[in-house]
Amino acid sequence: MTQHSSPQFPTTRLRRNRKSAWARALVAENILLASDLIWPLFVIEGTNMVEPIAAMPGVSRLSIDVAVERVKEARDLGIPLVALFPNTDPTLRNEEGAEALNTNNLICRAVRAIKAQVPDIGVMCDVALDPYTSHGHDGLMRGNEIMNDESLVVLVQQALVQAEAGCDVIAPSDMMDGRIGAIRAALDKAGHQNVQIMAYSAKYASGFYGPFREAVGSSSLLKGDKRTYQMNPANSDEALREVAMDLAEGADMVMVKPGLPYLDIVARVKNEFKVPTFAYQVSGEYSMLMAAIERGWLDPEKVIPESLMSFKRAGADGILTYFAVEVAKSLRRSL
Ligand code: PBG
Repeated sequence: MTQHSSPQFPTTRLRRNRKSAWARALVAENILLASDLIWPLFVIEGTNMVEPIAAMPGVSRLSIDVAVERVKEARDLGIPLVALFPNTDPTLRNEEGAEALNTNNLICRAVRAIKAQVPDIGVMCDVALDPYTSHGHDGLMRGNEIMNDESLVVLVQQALVQAEAGCDVIAPSDMMDGRIGAIRAALDKAGHQNVQIMAYSAKYASGFYGPFREAVGSSSLLKGDKRTYQMNPANSDEALREVAMDLAEGADMVMVKPGLPYLDIVARVKNEFKVPTFAYQVSGEYSMLMAAIERGWLDPEKVIPESLMSFKRAGADGILTYFAVEVAKSLRRSL
């Protein structure tokens, strides 16, 4: 605060700027737009399939044909990017997550279908092996250890397979050291200089991912936990080191995850680096809000936009949220 700003009542009345809707709109410091939203969706095999996810009321796994229609709707609402996650058939999961490298796997077919039928929306894919491994981990396992450098080799291949399929944004969520640099180099070498990387830079070992793991079918498979590669929720400086390294390795955009419990990290990252910074309002955050909404304890019209506005206020340039379509619709109505 500078010295000329020591305002005093009654000369200054902060309520004056709140006296009416137009006055509040005029002085609003942040605004939530459909273009801030990234919509994660879960895909499954089959046609005309809509499979509800118990822990995420209102969210379903969709077969590719249905997903394409929903993505058209998202595009029409002004949502710029969708993030795809596969629920891989259990028989296709193995120790090495080999299905991740199948150029005709579920995710590649979904990307091709969406890019063919809805070319003007961005498509993002996770790089991590957890939807493909029989142990539910994001990398390769030897004994109880998740191997870093060995995993990089596979993750780089996975990223290339997704880029070949037409994915616009590669989003490594695996938290192996050195993955951004390895993926960037491989993409460039293969002629994919224009494929962007959104790094899950500060990804914490969080209990809030529970419903997601149900959605992709990895929760019952997961051996142990992910604390040797995902970040300790106690740490904040370390998040800045993760972001610094990912940027040095070529990340175009960085992400903090989960969202609401980590808004301090979002704010620190944005203040420190001033780069495109995203936050993921993860499955457990969605479930938490929906559980209270379903009981009538919280008003969705209020808490959903409020929760998303808090990300903007913290400095996020955009938010991954399962509420994206619903929110984009209500933003449209309020225009
Ligand atoms: C996979 C991945 C996870 C999420 C996104 N990518 C789960 C995990 O790391 O276990 C979580 C998203 C959510 O909870 O909504 N690496």
